[in-house]
Amino acid sequence: MDPNSFSEPDLCICKHLHFNIEVLFEKKVLHGSLRLQAVNKSSNNNRLILDTNKLKILSVSDAKTGHHMQWEVQPMNSKSPFGSALVITLPSSSSRDGEAVDLEVLYETSPEASAVQWLAAEQTVGKTHPYLFTQCQAIHARSMFPCQDTPSVKTTYSAEVIVPGELTALMSAIPTGNHVVSGNDKSSRKVFTFEQKVPIPSYLVALAVGALESRQIGARSSVWSEKEVVDSAAYEFAHTEDMLNVAEGICGPYVWEKYDLLVLPPSFPYGGMENPCLTFVTPTVLAGDRSLVNVVAHELSHSWTGNLVTNHTWEHFWLNEGFTVFVERKIMGRMFDEKMRHFHCIGGWKALVNSVNDFKDAIHLTSLVPNLEGIDPDDAFSSVPYEKGSALLFYLECLVGDHDQFELYLRSYIETFKYKTVTTDQWKHHFLTYFHKQAEQGVFSEVDWDGWLFGHGLPPCKPAYNTAGVDACTDLCQKWIAASDEQLDSFSPEDIKDFNSHHLIEFLSLLLLEKPPVDIAKVKTMQCAYNLHSYKNAEIRFRWLRLCVKAGWEDVFSMAVTFVSEQGRMKFVRPLYRDLYAHEKSRALALSTFHSLKPLYHHITANMLEKDLDLRQ
Ligand code: BES
Ligand code: ZN
Repeated sequence: MDPNSFSEPDLCICKHLHFNIEVLFEKKVLHGSLRLQAVNKSSNNNRLILDTNKLKILSVSDAKTGHHMQWEVQPMNSKSPFGSALVITLPSSSSRDGEAVDLEVLYETSPEASAVQWLAAEQTVGKTHPYLFTQCQAIHARSMFPCQDTPSVKTTYSAEVIVPGELTALMSAIPTGNHVVSGNDKSSRKVFTFEQKVPIPSYLVALAVGALESRQIGARSSVWSEKEVVDSAAYEFAHTEDMLNVAEGICGPYVWEKYDLLVLPPSFPYGGMENPCLTFVTPTVLAGDRSLVNVVAHELSHSWTGNLVTNHTWEHFWLNEGFTVFVERKIMGRMFDEKMRHFHCIGGWKALVNSVNDFKDAIHLTSLVPNLEGIDPDDAFSSVPYEKGSALLFYLECLVGDHDQFELYLRSYIETFKYKTVTTDQWKHHFLTYFHKQAEQGVFSEVDWDGWLFGHGLPPCKPAYNTAGVDACTDLCQKWIAASDEQLDSFSPEDIKDFNSHHLIEFLSLLLLEKPPVDIAKVKTMQCAYNLHSYKNAEIRFRWLRLCVKAGWEDVFSMAVTFVSEQGRMKFVRPLYRDLYAHEKSRALALSTFHSLKPLYHHITANMLEKDLDLRQ
């Protein structure tokens, strides 16, 4: 049972979806039909339940006969993140075990659909054409189309999408063609068709429409974006094919045919989203020096861990993200060196410590396998599944001792569960079966399984990472912390002359962990010594601005406001708003900034910020 879905896939399960939708920018709606091919799994069952959220259902009919079918949208609290169940009564002819169900739903999305962001031309880089993109993970697909919105159900899909003639549509699928259609008015329209032949969960359905251009960057990859950024994107991601090859060496063959990247407008709420065949990425990874491409390593790793082997419900999210972070860092280790892998692991552990601290009022969400009954997965989201999950795998790899052997295990895990979904129990059972010899020899006898999987807070132990790569950062951080006022003039640009952007990120992350926060005299001196205001790299800017805001440096507030207005990546805007809000000097500014920028943020971002700023409940 998936606590975050009304659907009952044990009774009747969807197998294929076909979309026939038109994108209406003036009304901000998707309008059209969805054909669902399902299989009834029980002779006693005469209904199919789909998740919906703010959808307008116009009709439901038997796709073969065209006969109308009985349906009802169950009344629900309109604010519930889970939406409402659409209960469809199946014709008696399909109420048999194994019987095919083939129906068509005519529907329209709401302009407030949480999965869809509609951007006016002014909100794009080119400023001449509107733009639309979707973000369905975790439970927003139900606001885009009626579906069994649980990762435990995988379907193939195909689509015909009609858009204004000057725009391009992309989906998480293989494009199969496009042609102009003549309408009755002057404006031309274009139909784009797609096919996803690999069964995927609803959260991986994705659509983007805009004035898009592409550059080929590899044998199976192109980058897509507005034309103004496409060349810098092609430069930034030039090593994608190399990464794919490394990933295949670790995980096995890439089954999705193409691996394209779409660089979204700045309001994209995440760093990246592993939409099959077409990863979505934030423009904030375009650092100009390829230093943030671990996001691409991460998203392409999901092609195996997440998209091929999928978490059964969101309670097992760590099987998607913990495994993916583990593979991402393996790739970084291969592309650079093992030191790089440890460097990222050490940074990740700090993110885990921060998440555990942030959840002090919701400690149950720091469990690797949380109970999500009645909980919006967006509220449970944090670094915990990423970092506690990948740390567990790193720890187990150390116990096994042999990296090659652990990679063979990883292959076996993927081979065993590919095209399926997996729970934590199944994972553990497969692990202990695979390593039964080691288990018999007591290699895992020290493992506190329940502590790792269900315990709150930090895990039972910390893996032994090699700190050689971060020692210079730790030393400099210590020097700043220990410095008295008289010693502040001893700092100079010399201190960081051998630092690359990763070192600066690590250095600033360490300073951010300080309690009480680094004081205003020190951040001002740091600005004089290192001119951190001048850095464009979003990861550096983010940490530096947080440090200044936490110190209460008023001159920097306007820079922080600029940063949260230039981009809407939640990883950056949420902590900065929380810091501004926490400080008496900047609380009013946090609120007024949010009120003015709210219409520009993605629904998911605005919703989370409202909670962070106590504007809800
Ligand atoms: N699948 C996630 C993004 C996500 C998670 C969206 C949950 C909605 C709900 C994606 O793969 C991800 O983890 N992105 C990270 C990248 C980072 C770990 C390199 C991000 O957005 O920062
Ligand atoms: Zn991920």
